[in-house]
Amino acid sequence: MLEHDVLVVGAGLAGMRAAIAARAAGANTAVISKVHPVRSHSNAAQGGINAALVDRGDPWEDHAYDTVKGSDYLGDQDAIELMCRAAGGAVIDMEHMGVTFSRDDDGKLGTRAFGGQGRARTFYVGDFTGQAMLHVMFEQLIKSGVRRYEEWFVTSLIEEDGQVCGVMALEIRTGQLFAIRAKTLIFCTGGLGRVFEPSTNALIVTGDGMALAYNAGARLMDMEMVQYHPTTLAGSGVLISEAARGEGAYLLDKNGDRFMEKYAPNMIELASRDVVSRAEQTEINAGNGVDGCVFLDCRHLGETLIKEKLSQIREIGIDLAGVDMVKDLIPIRPGMHYMMGGIKTDVDGLTNVPGVYAAGECACVSVHGGNRLGANSLLDTIIFGQRSGNHAADACRELEFVEFNVDEAVSREEKRIQAMLDRPQNGDRIASVRLAMGETMNKNLAVYRDQAGMDETLHDLVGLRERYATVPVDSKGRVFNTDLVFALELGFMLDCAETITVSAQDRKDSRGAQARTDFPDRDDENWMKHVTVIKGEAGPDISYLPVTITQWTPETRKY
Ligand code: FUM
Repeated sequence: MLEHDVLVVGAGLAGMRAAIAARAAGANTAVISKVHPVRSHSNAAQGGINAALVDRGDPWEDHAYDTVKGSDYLGDQDAIELMCRAAGGAVIDMEHMGVTFSRDDDGKLGTRAFGGQGRARTFYVGDFTGQAMLHVMFEQLIKSGVRRYEEWFVTSLIEEDGQVCGVMALEIRTGQLFAIRAKTLIFCTGGLGRVFEPSTNALIVTGDGMALAYNAGARLMDMEMVQYHPTTLAGSGVLISEAARGEGAYLLDKNGDRFMEKYAPNMIELASRDVVSRAEQTEINAGNGVDGCVFLDCRHLGETLIKEKLSQIREIGIDLAGVDMVKDLIPIRPGMHYMMGGIKTDVDGLTNVPGVYAAGECACVSVHGGNRLGANSLLDTIIFGQRSGNHAADACRELEFVEFNVDEAVSREEKRIQAMLDRPQNGDRIASVRLAMGETMNKNLAVYRDQAGMDETLHDLVGLRERYATVPVDSKGRVFNTDLVFALELGFMLDCAETITVSAQDRKDSRGAQARTDFPDRDDENWMKHVTVIKGEAGPDISYLPVTITQWTPETRKY
């Protein structure tokens, strides 16, 4: 029998940090991940990680204030305070583990400016910070002795008398199903970017953990808050890091004008992401772009700086769009990048479902509220990953394993999966359903939204669910059947798409990433609250939670 005190689902930065913490606290710990850990999407984080260091004259309160303001006052201030207070120590810990952060001319850890922040406090490794951190964390994971189930996919949760007590998982290499018993689960499965097409997210980012938790009764919160990053590459939608603007790049319209001066006279290109994305979309809609894009101008930064600090995005521009940022403008537009919402947790990662925790992008603590500051995501993963690992390990000392009939659990799941494999051909394709979902989400749940558009998407989703019920799995074998994995992922994505749409329809104001043309103002009197959903009989049931305010009274945001 496979059994663990703490089973972490997902092995990106949050997952590995959680597992290392739980193991260090003495728990029998394992991580299960549908990809090898260093292929996790944390790999794609480019620009850096924020921390205020008081010995540099940067008190954590300033970072916290910028985060609260960036969140459009929807972030819970107690959680934000906790994260920002711990940030400096966490970044130094990462440096001590072996992350080779870029240095400044004095040999000290270098920082660069990032959007929505009063000063440069983003620590970085060139423009591949996530990759550098992920590899170091993987080394630490190996050292810790945590058991790894690599390329295993969690297909469903096991519940006994209403208690979550383990997972059903597919070993992708063999196609065999296993039941894994666990006293506690920590979801660290990342975001849901690919519910939208295009997205900056890897193809593996399919909302699995959010959907699994939601189906087991977990509360999801702030699901309407979907971040569109201001600089995604024309065509592919691949991320062009905010680090470029942090280093001084401009945004230009088709006439070569720096249009951000109109929208954010103080911070210009370094206003918060929601503000910059809205400005770009407004200009594009007004006909001031070219082929649905505006331009990122890095030419004045010079070849030396670009090669030293922005080498990855230079290559991306050359390879995917045929533009060399040393001498060419980069055509960019707002693109889906990040989910601020997720599984509602407390600051220790605990959800409303006993024994179930979450951390990282799949969780909503909520430290990002309506809009996340760039480079606060890597920070969130390591702070709340560690806290949830510690807390779950502590909780395990008081918990017993829940007994369940393993054979029955395996055979039930085997039948469900076999029924999917046995579906007859009907001309439909998993990829077509997924693309149609992504396109309707990107059409109507993007930078600007309105009721009619969201109604259209909800209607589309009903039709897509019907297709999902019969769509055939083309590949029938068991060994490395990625077609089957895609089919299972698509079910998770449709659940996520519905919760996003219903939450966005419910919120009748504009705040952070939610800009409704039919409710254009922020309405603190009625909507200074979190929208939450729990799975009901007929779909998501909405309710509300108050926003925790400690020291920063909501104000109108200006950049
Ligand atoms: O633009 C970027 O480098 C992205 C960073 C982030 O989302 O935190």
